Amino acid sequence: MTTVKIETLLAQIGNRSETQTGTVNPPVYFSTAYRHNGIGESTGFDYIRTGNPTRKLLEEAIAELEGGKQGFAFSSGMAAIHSLLCLFSPGDEIAVSADLYGGTYRLFEQIWKTYGIKFNYCHTYEDFAESITENTKAFFIETPTNPLMQEMDIKEIAQLTQSNNLLLLVDNTFYTPILQRPIEQGADIVVHSATKYLAGHNDVLAGLIVSKSKEVGARLEEYQNATGAVLPPFDSWLVMRGMKTLSLRMRQHEENAKIISRFLREREEVTDVLYPGKGGMISFRLKSEEWINPFLKSLRIISFAESLGGVESLMTYPATQTHADIPEEVRTQNGICNCLLRYSVGIEHANDLIDDLIQAFESLSI
Ligand SMILES: Cc1ncc(COP(=O)(O)O)c(C=O)c1O
Repeated sequence: MTTVKIETLLAQIGNRSETQTGTVNPPVYFSTAYRHNGIGESTGFDYIRTGNPTRKLLEEAIAELEGGKQGFAFSSGMAAIHSLLCLFSPGDEIAVSADLYGGTYRLFEQIWKTYGIKFNYCHTYEDFAESITENTKAFFIETPTNPLMQEMDIKEIAQLTQSNNLLLLVDNTFYTPILQRPIEQGADIVVHSATKYLAGHNDVLAGLIVSKSKEVGARLEEYQNATGAVLPPFDSWLVMRGMKTLSLRMRQHEENAKIISRFLREREEVTDVLYPGKGGMISFRLKSEEWINPFLKSLRIISFAESLGGVESLMTYPATQTHADIPEEVRTQNGICNCLLRYSVGIEHANDLIDDLIQAFESLSI
């Protein structure tokens, strides 16, 4: 990483990228094709799937922010994770966090398992260590996990992957490079649903990957060009615009989440609050499953909606939304019971959010 601080890197994304006019905000290049003067005389851009100047700015920015060699922008977080799995072959095994975004679980179990990749689900460091076989090629972890907010020590798990010659893949969607830079702690690849905190405004679907090594980067570049799930130019620009304010937003998300987690811990309607003390995501359980629907229906500022990381507060019910594709017995065994709510705390005033929660609790007929 360069010597300037992350706040400066973020605010300056795309500035000085164009010298002809001196535009401060980077232009959006919509052109799908690039003119050549003759054979072998490319400007470096040929066709939009292979490379686009706007997407490139975003890819360079995320690579620098995460401290990796190469960045890639995909049409969604899932498209990014799907491309990562192209690094593996039938017969390979990957150890993964047992608590995992439901869409990632679905991709693993419904698609990649049928292609011959085996996924071993692990809860603890010991589970990961014990899961290693001669076919294991990588670990894929979320930290903190979605939705149970369990943190893993990346440095510790990286020692395990490095000593066994495995790749360590980390989904950094919840913490972002503001709170956690997995590559600096030994990860090989970082992936993001940029739809969430990085873009930050609930208005664009995007995925990002950063690879630590040139070799892995070259393979990902090949898959990205071959499969074409690339992020369009305007969406790349939207993600960059969102990222410029990431540090300010994360500060406010976290400040609010700390206040709200303390408030929730005091409520008698709540049995437990899952908040690791960092970031803007909180999960909590209500005493009764019957209260879930009336509680969600009573919210006036916080929206009952399925996403996270935007400026607006969203409340999600994992059992029927984000984690609905995980079989109920696996889901409940992992702790995603029918009383669990996940709250993406927005940047609104904390007092207004607390007032909203109070009136929703008071609406319950206890
Ligand atoms: C942790 C995590 N990873 C990946 C994804 C998938 O990203 P996308 O919705 O951008 O495809 C999500 C989506 O909620 C997520 O929460």
